[in-house]
Amino acid sequence: MGSLEGKIVIITGASSGIGLAAAIAFAKQKTKLMLAARRENKLIAACEEIKKLGAEAEYMLVDVAKESDVKKLIEKTLQRYNRIDILVNNSGYGHFFPLAQTTSQQMHDIMEVNFFGTFYASHEVLPIMIKQQSGHIINISSVAGKRVFRQTGGAYNITKFAMQGFTEALRMELINTPIRVTSICPVTTVTEFFDLAKEQTGKSAKILGPAQTAEHVANAIIKVAINPKAEVVLVGALRIVFALQALFPGLIDKLIYRFVGSKKDE
Ligand SMILES: NC(=O)c1ccc[n+]([C@@H]2O[C@H](COP(=O)([O-])OP(=O)(O)OC[C@H]3O[C@@H](n4cnc5c(N)ncnc54)[C@H](OP(=O)(O)O)[C@@H]3O)[C@@H](O)[C@H]2O)c1
Repeated sequence: MGSLEGKIVIITGASSGIGLAAAIAFAKQKTKLMLAARRENKLIAACEEIKKLGAEAEYMLVDVAKESDVKKLIEKTLQRYNRIDILVNNSGYGHFFPLAQTTSQQMHDIMEVNFFGTFYASHEVLPIMIKQQSGHIINISSVAGKRVFRQTGGAYNITKFAMQGFTEALRMELINTPIRVTSICPVTTVTEFFDLAKEQTGKSAKILGPAQTAEHVANAIIKVAINPKAEVVLVGALRIVFALQALFPGLIDKLIYRFVGSKKDE
């Protein structure tokens, strides 16, 4: 098993949920971390927790929807650590309305964070990784980027489909290089992500199918950082659904609606 000790890792969205759990998991591997998000108190607490584990961490306030913020994040990391080994593009949020009730501004906003945040950071880090002739970009996508399960939240699906396409395109571009690109597709993960549903709609989003913890996803991120793969789907059985939908998309729509999609949020 390879070691991550001493590797320089950037994590966006490290102030809560999957990003925070990944930061702690990377710290336990003795990596050196740069944490990014917008909530300073949470980032300070994360850095303190990491230092107690004997690892190095610094944070930067970054809105990933702003290219200039993301550029500064990559520059500051390079200045501080002299190289960048792993970029985890994790910042993101959900949208819990049907597309018919989604404004174009809301669609732009969610694309800026979930997709362009990933694009800006990857774009900025790539020349550095190419120069180093090493590096790994890990994109936290979702099973929602492979198949639509809910009747609400199409805007979120679209951002994750874009992330899947971006990841695949980068993988192809970099196929003959030592730089690796991975897409991680978690299923429902119990984090602050779903608190937003209540803020947006006044209703809790119904948890569909199997749920997992942020630590479970973080362990998968560590595993893939050690042994890079193209894609990780956290509930492997879903790959059967993804394969069948390529053959029978209409039938899979009906089956998903029957078994999960018709469950109403409360
Ligand atoms: N929870 C799930 O069921 C699930 C399933 C599959 C995939 N995912 C994906 O996993 C990722 C992490 O989500 P989570 O479940 O851990 O939710 P979370 O606890 O709400 O974490 C979201 C993180 O993204 C950050 N963020 C949001 N907007 C940002 C912005 N404009 N700039 C910088 N950072 C921003 C938040 O930090 P600040 O608010 O401090 O900026 C926070 O650290 C997301 O990409 C999500 O799509 C989640």
